[in-house]
Amino acid sequence: MNRFEYHDGQLRCEGQPLRDLAARFGTPLYVYSAETFRTHFARLAHAFGALQPRICYSVKCCPNLDILRLLAACGSGFDIVSGGELFRVLRIGTPPDRIVFAGVGKTEREIDEALAARVGLLNVESAGELELLARAAQRHAVTPDVALRIIPDVDAKTHAYTTTGTRHNKFGIPLDQAADLYRRFGASPLVRLRGLHLHIGSPVSDPERYALGIRRALQLIDTLRAEGLTVDTLDIGGGYGAHYVGDDAPSADAYAQVIVPLLADRGLRVILEPGRSIAANAGVLVTRVLYVKTSGRRRFVVVDASMNELIRPALYSAYHFIWPVDAGPRIPQDWSPNQPFDGLRRCDVVGPVCESGDFLAKGRRLPPVQPGDLLAVHTAGAYGMAMASQYNSRPRAAEVLVDGGAVRLMRRRETYEDLIAAEHVPPE
Ligand code: LLP
Repeated sequence: MNRFEYHDGQLRCEGQPLRDLAARFGTPLYVYSAETFRTHFARLAHAFGALQPRICYSVKCCPNLDILRLLAACGSGFDIVSGGELFRVLRIGTPPDRIVFAGVGKTEREIDEALAARVGLLNVESAGELELLARAAQRHAVTPDVALRIIPDVDAKTHAYTTTGTRHNKFGIPLDQAADLYRRFGASPLVRLRGLHLHIGSPVSDPERYALGIRRALQLIDTLRAEGLTVDTLDIGGGYGAHYVGDDAPSADAYAQVIVPLLADRGLRVILEPGRSIAANAGVLVTRVLYVKTSGRRRFVVVDASMNELIRPALYSAYHFIWPVDAGPRIPQDWSPNQPFDGLRRCDVVGPVCESGDFLAKGRRLPPVQPGDLLAVHTAGAYGMAMASQYNSRPRAAEVLVDGGAVRLMRRRETYEDLIAAEHVPPE
């Protein structure tokens, strides 16, 4: 479900024509639907309701403060991976017990900040980190709750760069080492070991992959409990899919059908860390066509958005559905994205950045477009703006949130002065 719909030939977000938003705020422009965020959060909460999980939205996928506030109001906690993300969630007044902190390379400073803030759970990824954490906890005179992130050694069958749960990845601790570490720190007065964490990848389109990882975690939990150790928490991470090509992702219910029976009646506090499944379909990137040109048999549609705004096609060869904002008379009234029609033209949608890898789509069949037309790049709400850069000294785009009748600029377009703001360093 998303609230980006064509009405009278115009793509709208919760009824607001994207053409009007582009005229008001300029392009490239991220537009988000608040209702879509809320609906996706509610669906996940409902699907997993039997477990009464703590849902911790993964801040990294779309970290704007207004989005965090919106999800906090839905009852969400937050999964963070850096001091910067901690800063964000504290800034919106998140109760610290609703924060879980993962990350393979937490610095001592970040650990100090997490302890000072009393975050609810630290997901530790190595023996060295746990030793450092124990020393820091002593200094702070606190006893933090800790989970060990395990390597379940499950191939999530997703892009190599977003596969995280195999022993070839940098994340987590091998099962045997995790068992030893749990035993070593199980009775420590410095840290309170509560359980295990896993995150196998993103997106994971086969729910059975979770089952494999969770069964391995449960085996370890049974072993540790049999030895008298306390294990009352299992954080099963994120990675639930979003719709990129039509309705391609499993529903929240489909994941829950596999996962809930495994964890029901296990006496575990279950934590979920969804990002993309909540945010991706809640955002589009609106871009304007600058030029159309041909070279040999290739046709290039040069737009004002680039890998600066959306790096996923360049980095993961990711597919994002692209279509004109103004469907107008060029497109049949009964058109739907899965029904191609005559008159489509194969083209590369490319940005202005000086890299051949700067494309939003390759060999894509689009209706004829001309300079000035607006295109919507769909499913861009997660890992879009979050991964934006200023490469080529291009100020980052603006972000707008549509919430029913209300339109809110939730991040202004950057200026040239913003590009050099951090370079105003006084001479030594
Ligand atoms: N929990 C942990 C520990 C994670 O590392 C991640 C994502 C999540 C939760 C949330 O995963 P999600 O539900 O959003 O799939 N930039 C890539 C995705 C990188 C994911 C990193 N970790 C992309 O654009 O596809």
